[in-house]
Amino acid sequence: FKVKKPENEPVLSYGAYSNERAQLKAKLRELKETQIEIPLIVGGKEIYTGNTKKCLIPHNKDHVLGIYHMAGEQEIEMAIEAALQAKKEWDEMPWQHRASIFLKAAELLSGPWRYTLNAATMLGQSKTAYQAEIDSACELIDFIRFNTYFMTEIYDDQLISTNECWNRIEYRPLEGFVFSVTPFNFTAIGGNLAISPALMGNVVLWKPSRTAVYSNYFVMKLLQEAGLPDGVINFVPSSGGLIGNKVFNHESLAGIHFTGSTGVFNTMWKTIGENIDKYKSYPKIVGETGGKDFIFAHSLANINKLVTALIRGAFEYQGQKCSAASRAYIPNSIWTVLKCKLISEASTIKMGDIEDFTNFMGAVIDKESFDKIKSYIDFARNSDEAEIIWGGKCDDRVGYFIEPTIIATKDPYFKTMTEEIFGPVLTIYVYEDEKFEETLKICNESTPYGLTGGIFSQDRKALILMERLLKYAAGNLYINDKPTGAVVGQQPFGGARASGTNDKAGSKLNLLRWANPRVIKETF
Ligand code: ALA
Repeated sequence: FKVKKPENEPVLSYGAYSNERAQLKAKLRELKETQIEIPLIVGGKEIYTGNTKKCLIPHNKDHVLGIYHMAGEQEIEMAIEAALQAKKEWDEMPWQHRASIFLKAAELLSGPWRYTLNAATMLGQSKTAYQAEIDSACELIDFIRFNTYFMTEIYDDQLISTNECWNRIEYRPLEGFVFSVTPFNFTAIGGNLAISPALMGNVVLWKPSRTAVYSNYFVMKLLQEAGLPDGVINFVPSSGGLIGNKVFNHESLAGIHFTGSTGVFNTMWKTIGENIDKYKSYPKIVGETGGKDFIFAHSLANINKLVTALIRGAFEYQGQKCSAASRAYIPNSIWTVLKCKLISEASTIKMGDIEDFTNFMGAVIDKESFDKIKSYIDFARNSDEAEIIWGGKCDDRVGYFIEPTIIATKDPYFKTMTEEIFGPVLTIYVYEDEKFEETLKICNESTPYGLTGGIFSQDRKALILMERLLKYAAGNLYINDKPTGAVVGQQPFGGARASGTNDKAGSKLNLLRWANPRVIKETF
């Protein structure tokens, strides 16, 4: 019963005077003019707790888009109960019908809903139209369509039977609920972390990032419009500590689907360990965490391609993609030419309000992030081991703007070379050409992470060596390309080491984590 393998949703370009740009602009205007009040959605019902926080525009920090209500202990308990109640029917629903609901959501999203979700992401998370298009609407549509296809592949995979017996395998959902804790940087990842377990028949508590509640709420409304039964996904913005305390102590916790920091994920894992005797089943723990993604160039790299990869990889979405290039290793023999081209390219970058479609960068997500990134830039500015060769200015008068910043260092273990910054800061280490292999080893072991990387050379032998010595340094390795922009169905995404459990979002591997297989043997 395999369905046809889907194709990726075509990306709209929002060109000047296009109909799509006009529609997106109208939506941006509408959303900015209407302050919305965002309730919890528990068992399909809207709950207003009165404990509210503001949704702000990062590039226009005093503009309030709306307020959202925070779940307290009582509402979290209600959400767990609502999920477990919904499970009774959801568990029994034929998978074809589950799939239909989500496929309808994808279809709605490829229509007018697309503009709502993209506009909400642009305003709430300061993404440009192009970044919102690829990372919100298109990626969420792709996640749904491809995961439905992968789900049918899983269900289609049956066991060997003989004349005397018939073996079946049934991919049951987990016995309990899944806790989805989602990040601010990709609206599509937020949606997918809740949707993919639900697609496999599970019920979910969805805690969105506090800085993405606004766009994530629209995803929730979209799912309701597509016919998602009450209680299957429960939308519960809350404080991490408070919700964690309830969820991790609950006997029916069956899975964690997480994207966020390594520190938070480690705490979750330890808490689950401490509570392990309480659970009915061992919770499945799936997480994508931190990164310190690299670009490594060999002396025979194509310099123009390398410049594009460094600029796009490091500065698109203000360097806040988990896959963003934040450290680079460049051989001395190409450094002078590369530096010149890199600075010339960086000097063309326009930053500002994302409603001006000519801007390449918006603001970073919030004050906390701004302060953290600024402290790394200040550290480099005050160090004898580094030089800021481009950018470095930070200005939070109107919004949280940080210039695309390039740091050069003589120390491959320099702080900004090894620590996750999550902002538009690229640090470059220039190595002696004859130390190619030695530097590859440093690249491999100088951070605890293993998410993405890009390697550049036109020499096959060099590529083979790079691929070998960086075997565990990245879960997604790109040859002669930037390390960002994985496309669902083409490059399943995730990394290991301190970057996560590498269960590849948008793949069969990920969906299998949400299944609890039962084997049935019948003899004749
Ligand atoms: N899927 C996102 C990317 O590859 C994280 O950039």
